[in-house]
Amino acid sequence: MSFRIAPSLLSADFARLGEEVRNVIDAGADWIHFDVMDNHYVPNLTFGPMVCEALRKHAVTKDGARVPIDVHLMVQPVDALALAFAKAGADLISFHPDASAHVDRTLQLIRGAGCQAGLVFNPAQPLDVLEWTIDQLDLVLIMSVNPGFGGQSFIPGALKKTEQVRRLIEKSGRDIRLEVDGGIKVDNIRSVADAGADTFVAGSAIFGQPDYRAVIGAMRERLK
Ligand code: DX5
Ligand code: ZN
Repeated sequence: MSFRIAPSLLSADFARLGEEVRNVIDAGADWIHFDVMDNHYVPNLTFGPMVCEALRKHAVTKDGARVPIDVHLMVQPVDALALAFAKAGADLISFHPDASAHVDRTLQLIRGAGCQAGLVFNPAQPLDVLEWTIDQLDLVLIMSVNPGFGGQSFIPGALKKTEQVRRLIEKSGRDIRLEVDGGIKVDNIRSVADAGADTFVAGSAIFGQPDYRAVIGAMRERLK
C-alpha cells in the first residue's frame, strides 16, 4: 500500500502560506490539503481559488515535480467554485454530496475539467450515495471530525466507516484513494491505516509542531 500524508494548510501560518507549502513538502508531504470553508456550509471562512492559484507554483518538490493540491470543498453550492478551483490548479477536488443538488453532475464537471473527483462524508452521514457514484470517483474522504475547524478530536466511529468504504472500493475493483480527515496524530494514524485508509490529512498535528519533518517522519514510521 502506498500511503500519502496530506498536511492541511488550515493550521499553517496564513501570513506565510507559500513558505509553509514549500517547507512541508521539503519535510516529506505527499499532497497539500486545501480546506475551503464558506461560512455557510460550515461555520468558518478560509481561502478561495485565488489563493490556490497563488500557491500552485509553490507546490513542487525541490526537483520541480508537481505536488498534488487536494482541495476539500466545504461550500454550498459547489459547482461554480469547483470549476474555479480546477482553473486555479487543483489536482483533486472533493465535495460533500449533501452540499450539491446534483451530485452526478458535479462529479462530471470536476472530471471534465481535468481533475480527480472525490466525495466527502461527515461523521453522521450514510454512505448510500456511493452505490450510484463509485464508478466516477477517484477519492473517498471520510471525515473523522465535524467539518469547520482544525484541532478537534478524532471521532472513533470513523474507523468503522473507513472499513466499510474499503470493502466497497475493493468490490468496485477501481483505483480509488481512501482518505481520512480530522484529528489524525502520530498516535492514532496506525489505527486509521488498519481500518483501510491510504491517505491521511493532518493539520494541527503537523503545523502545531516546530519540526514538520520529525512529525511526518514519525507518522511514516507508524505506517511501516
Ligand atoms: C476540518 C478540515 C480538516 C482539518 C484537519 O474541517 O477538513 O482538514 O483541517 O485538521 P486537524 O488535523 O487539526 O484535525
Ligand atoms: Zn479537510
